[in-house]
Amino acid sequence: MQAYTLITGASSGIGLEMAKQLAAKQHNLILVARNEDKLIQLQKDLKGQFSVEVLYLLHDLAEPHAAQKLYQEVKTKHYEITGLINNAGFGDYGRFVDLPLETAENMIAVNVTALVGLTRLFGADMAKKGKGRIMNVASLLSFLPFPYYAVYSATKSFVLAFTETIATELEPAGVTVTALCPGTVETPFHTPNMRQTNAMSANKPMSVGVVATAGVDLFLYGKGKKIVGFKNWLISNLPRVTPDSLMMNIKKNLASIKK
Ligand SMILES: NC(=O)c1ccc[n+]([C@@H]2O[C@H](COP(=O)([O-])OP(=O)(O)OC[C@H]3O[C@@H](n4cnc5c(N)ncnc54)[C@H](OP(=O)(O)O)[C@@H]3O)[C@@H](O)[C@H]2O)c1
Repeated sequence: MQAYTLITGASSGIGLEMAKQLAAKQHNLILVARNEDKLIQLQKDLKGQFSVEVLYLLHDLAEPHAAQKLYQEVKTKHYEITGLINNAGFGDYGRFVDLPLETAENMIAVNVTALVGLTRLFGADMAKKGKGRIMNVASLLSFLPFPYYAVYSATKSFVLAFTETIATELEPAGVTVTALCPGTVETPFHTPNMRQTNAMSANKPMSVGVVATAGVDLFLYGKGKKIVGFKNWLISNLPRVTPDSLMMNIKKNLASIKK
């Protein structure tokens, strides 16, 4: 049976870039997302360039029982998953009470519910076999909950807390669980409003290639969490030495639209 690394959110941004880099390292891949045209193109490119097995599965991870449906399809097709990268995710920007509740619920479904479900289902199989790698994509905001990104920040804090605890639980079973924590990255993730914030005008987003390389290295290394970039590491530690009210004012200013 062929062994595969399954990457969610592989049709764009960090997921697409990690797929390219893993294919270059001869990993067979299962790409998951909703945009079939993009997945077909990526499958064609990777198979042509790197002579690896590349499959794709179309799933909307915001749907109820999305993780179970994806797991079931993988089992029915007898694919063996030795690596799982929970990368799919999206954010929303604005005052929480002004944003659609449905978007918040879908965000929790994709960023949290599907990630927990896939980790539970594939993680159990990996633990039984005594080997496997899981990496979850968290964020710099896992350490710094930002106003106007309330639900998004909370989902990413969840991802980091969840990842760090199960990493310890699964280590004796031979399964590695790591968390990638990027700062701002140049991808289609950012809505036009997000791009007009003080934070985005003050800081140049990191290149997706650099972040994907950090992700692939962490996934293969199999230990701990990675805050990508020294400056982001420093920022992640600011709350330890800054009073809460000051910290929240700084974050509110950074997250406001540039005047
Ligand atoms: N960009 C940043 O500044 C940044 C910073 C920190 C963390 N992150 C995290 O990095 C991860 C990747 O984001 P990115 O920046 O690469 O964004 P992106 O370019 O917008 O890619 C997001 C990916 O998630 C998939 N996705 C979104 N909703 C989905 C759904 N309902 N079902 C299935 N797939 C879905 C998208 O595929 P389809 O649309 O084809 O379904 C796409 O492949 C996310 O978890 C994000 O929170 C990003």
